[in-house]
Amino acid sequence: MSKIKIFDTTLRDGEQSPGVNLNQQEKLEIANQLERLGVDRIEAGFPASSNGDFAAVKAIADTLQSTSVIALARTVKSDIDIAWEALKGAKKPAIHVFLATSPIHMEYKLKKTPEEVIRTSVDMVRYAKEKFPEVQWSAEDASRSDWNFLAKIIEQVIDAGATIINLPDTVGYTTPQEYGNMFKFIKENVPNIDKAILSCHCHDDLGMAVANSIAAVENGATQVEGTINGIGERAGNAALEEVAVALKIRSDFYPYETGINLKEIKRTSDLVAKLTGMHVQANKAVIGRNAFSHESGIHQDGVLKHVETYEIITPEMVGVKEANTLFLGKHSGRHAFKEKVNEFGLELTEDELQEAFTRFKKLTDHKKEVTDDDIYTILMEIKTDSNQIAKYVLDSFQVYYGTANTPTAVVRLITPDDKKLEGALTGNGSVEALYKTIDSLMEEELDLIDYQLNSVGGGKDALAEAYVQMKVNGEVVNGRGSHQDVLAASAHAFLNAVNRYKLHHRAVEKEETVAQ
Ligand code: KIV
Ligand code: ZN
Repeated sequence: MSKIKIFDTTLRDGEQSPGVNLNQQEKLEIANQLERLGVDRIEAGFPASSNGDFAAVKAIADTLQSTSVIALARTVKSDIDIAWEALKGAKKPAIHVFLATSPIHMEYKLKKTPEEVIRTSVDMVRYAKEKFPEVQWSAEDASRSDWNFLAKIIEQVIDAGATIINLPDTVGYTTPQEYGNMFKFIKENVPNIDKAILSCHCHDDLGMAVANSIAAVENGATQVEGTINGIGERAGNAALEEVAVALKIRSDFYPYETGINLKEIKRTSDLVAKLTGMHVQANKAVIGRNAFSHESGIHQDGVLKHVETYEIITPEMVGVKEANTLFLGKHSGRHAFKEKVNEFGLELTEDELQEAFTRFKKLTDHKKEVTDDDIYTILMEIKTDSNQIAKYVLDSFQVYYGTANTPTAVVRLITPDDKKLEGALTGNGSVEALYKTIDSLMEEELDLIDYQLNSVGGGKDALAEAYVQMKVNGEVVNGRGSHQDVLAASAHAFLNAVNRYKLHHRAVEKEETVAQ
């Protein structure tokens, strides 16, 4: 079995998903979980892009113990210098410089000749190598580049010190056979290729990102890049949990293994889904809610007779526990609760823990069986709440709804500058009435793009979890809220999105003030 390295870019390419805006604390939480998952490299961000990104990359670099921390940089000296400042405290620092190599990118975007692209790449790789032990160079839009040109530039950047060569399918255009052949060509036509690791990086525009990544591995790539839950720019990146499980399940066919601890997949997927507000679709491979359920009678009968008749992945393999495991109840104490929090691997301050315990106790008054998923949902809510200073707070609300009258909402809101505002409006439905009223009390220009409501586990008393995507002053943000009541969950999700927008802008304003 040869080892395939897993390069996670959830915090860089994944964060480029519309509406996703993680703060430093959330990024650190995800990075710690990725380390537990066993990825080899974490792309923590793009330090030169903002002070916030710089601080988050630095915090991750200073914290992680065993995982290589890599950061993105353009092929310019100042980006490389800033990346070094952010990463110099890392146990295993690495840099990722990129430049486009396709004719369309070189001519229209870069306005550089192929020779200039070679010169810039070589010079910047050499410069980066003076600081970093590991230098990854990416040929952006490699899958639409000329292969002979790729072979030429790759040979020269390896001579200049690149230790990892990444060939991205930036626009998700390639097919498994074509992408595999490109790797084979590079392996066979670059004389010094054995001095570098070959890496693949696929986008999912045609739904082939995972298949393309596996094809690259079959043809010489020994590093796979991707994100958890496949989040990312446009249709997203290759889903790393799918790559890792595919290689494991088909180890009869593929002589490769990864260092991924498959049992940590569910927890990692949940954390990323909750903190990014990017809900995982029910039929998503490996980790979707329906991935292990069997609807048809023939399938159910087969599974009962022998589980492997229709089930190739077991829920336990990827860390999915029995949905309704009762773990703590009405009489559970603070100590048991704290132990559970530790089991989730989350770091909570004393105040956050106290708040979580209070909410848990409140939930046990209304819900007979409190499951792991419920507790996790509460903890995530606390995490997101306590990261929001100067926020809108929902003081109280009432919604009048009946089939015979017009839905009406009355809302009392506390603004970030501590004013109490009250309003009432009608709508075509109760959620619309509620949202219209909240909207009327806020200064921001708001436009709801998407709204989803899910239950956490089963049962009539299940927690409701609402996700919204909206434009706040023209900027897309995601929000999430949970509660036993669907309207309260919806209201919290709405406020959460606006608060995330405000928090992000406060950080940007602070940066601008410091820069002036
Ligand atoms: O998709 C892409 O080309 C990228 C590069 C920055 C590597 O994300
Ligand atoms: Zn990408």
